[in-house]
Amino acid sequence: MGPSEKEIGESKVRIGILGTGTMASALAEAWTRAGHRVLVGGRSLDKAQAVAERLGDLVAAAVPAEVVRASDAVLVAVAWEGIDQVLALAGAAEGSFAGKAVIDCTNAVDYASGMLKPAVGSAAEHVAERAVGGHVVKALHLFAGTGWLSPAPAGQPERTVAICGDDAGALDTTAELIRDLGAVPAVIGGLEHARQLEDVAGFVMRLVAAGCNPVTAVPFVDLSHG
Ligand SMILES: NC(=O)c1ccc[n+]([C@@H]2O[C@H](COP(=O)([O-])OP(=O)(O)OC[C@H]3O[C@@H](n4cnc5c(N)ncnc54)[C@H](OP(=O)(O)O)[C@@H]3O)[C@@H](O)[C@H]2O)c1
Repeated sequence: MGPSEKEIGESKVRIGILGTGTMASALAEAWTRAGHRVLVGGRSLDKAQAVAERLGDLVAAAVPAEVVRASDAVLVAVAWEGIDQVLALAGAAEGSFAGKAVIDCTNAVDYASGMLKPAVGSAAEHVAERAVGGHVVKALHLFAGTGWLSPAPAGQPERTVAICGDDAGALDTTAELIRDLGAVPAVIGGLEHARQLEDVAGFVMRLVAAGCNPVTAVPFVDLSHG
């Protein structure tokens, strides 16, 4: 099924989102506030349609293969356990992602221990191996999705979203979408850095479990002296 009556129009970046849960809904809403149109889909078309209905005319629902076909940038926002299924439904092995920016925001973290579930590599590299020809960028996994619906709290510094990936165009597209959320993108390197970024999520969880605000657990660096 295609976008039907809510056709994808003149968005700067044609955004597709695979996933229909909290993260998918929050980022779809945040990007529509920045004027983008978004196509949402997951293993349940009913859930995708419910998200589109709730978020209004700038969001449409489709099956995963259509979401990918009609988008320049695709956010993968499903549970780690669901990644293989949603990529298969989207035609990843057949090259449906070829040439597109694929933004992986997933956390393959065991919430009890804070340790990554993949023994080696990263969730982002797992996505890259399956999304044949896609340009994977790790991004947006650290902040709560609903946080993007409000400005940074008063007195807090601008939010920095650390990202990594191997394709300059996909990094640029992701950076543009991060700026549209009101944050500052920071490229830390190629996709081999994805495990490092993914581990930070577990680190943050352990700090919170230890009763610390994570922003107090990294050094303040004064960059004003060049
Ligand atoms: N929520 C946040 O603030 C946040 C922030 C950063 C990163 N993330 C990451 O974003 C991803 C989605 O998180 P979420 O909070 O949106 O979770 P969620 O609300 O529970 O939604 C999970 C999504 O994954 C799908 N899914 C779950 N298990 C699946 C399976 N076995 N096979 C296929 N699909 C499956 C669900 O489809 P069904 O509804 O059909 O089950 C749903 O679309 C996760 O990797 C999470 O770590 C979330």
